[in-house]
Amino acid sequence: MIGHALPDTVAESLAELLLVIGCGEESAVFAFQRLAGRGELQHHAQGQLLRIAREEEHHEQLLRGLRASLPTPRPDPLLKGRLRRFFLTLESREIGVHFARLAALDSAVCSILGELRSPKGKIHLESGIARIFQNIHEDEANHVRTALSLGHELAGRQRFLEEWVWTRQRLGALLDMKAEAFEGVGIDPRRLHQRLRKVPRLA
Ligand SMILES: [Fe+2]
Ligand SMILES: [Fe+2]
Repeated sequence: MIGHALPDTVAESLAELLLVIGCGEESAVFAFQRLAGRGELQHHAQGQLLRIAREEEHHEQLLRGLRASLPTPRPDPLLKGRLRRFFLTLESREIGVHFARLAALDSAVCSILGELRSPKGKIHLESGIARIFQNIHEDEANHVRTALSLGHELAGRQRFLEEWVWTRQRLGALLDMKAEAFEGVGIDPRRLHQRLRKVPRLA
């Protein structure tokens, strides 16, 4: 359990957002484990991916502890189904494409965590929660670097950017379903949308 003094409405909104973020962590563990087993990767990259899978597992544990300290969110079967489809369709037989999509996803998670940790939001003064988000944010920034460089190298620049945009559009539509919860924690969903429309500058 994580101690906090969030007002009920903020705690409820955060619990709803964790439905989305937590689902991503779970699928990331399996994605990176499977990717690490792909023969076309160098030994060095495989080691990196296994480390990422372990970090994703740790994120899942951290979020489990956080969820236990928050109210139980309303069941949302529509969102749940869409999330499952989204994460399933991130996978591709083309490994570079899969990395491009994971880079787009993890960097979007970084943007969301950045907003959650921002002094503009309603969470940042809660030190226990802020520490969890900081830990995850730092790891995710590294995951983005790895997925971005592997995706760029293996899929090529053009394809990488196409997959990035496609992933961000679909994720944006999912996040729209939780627009109210974003507002509840002090995040402006329109500003977040704008951030998520950015594409990386690739050399
Ligand atoms: Fe993660
Ligand atoms: Fe990640």
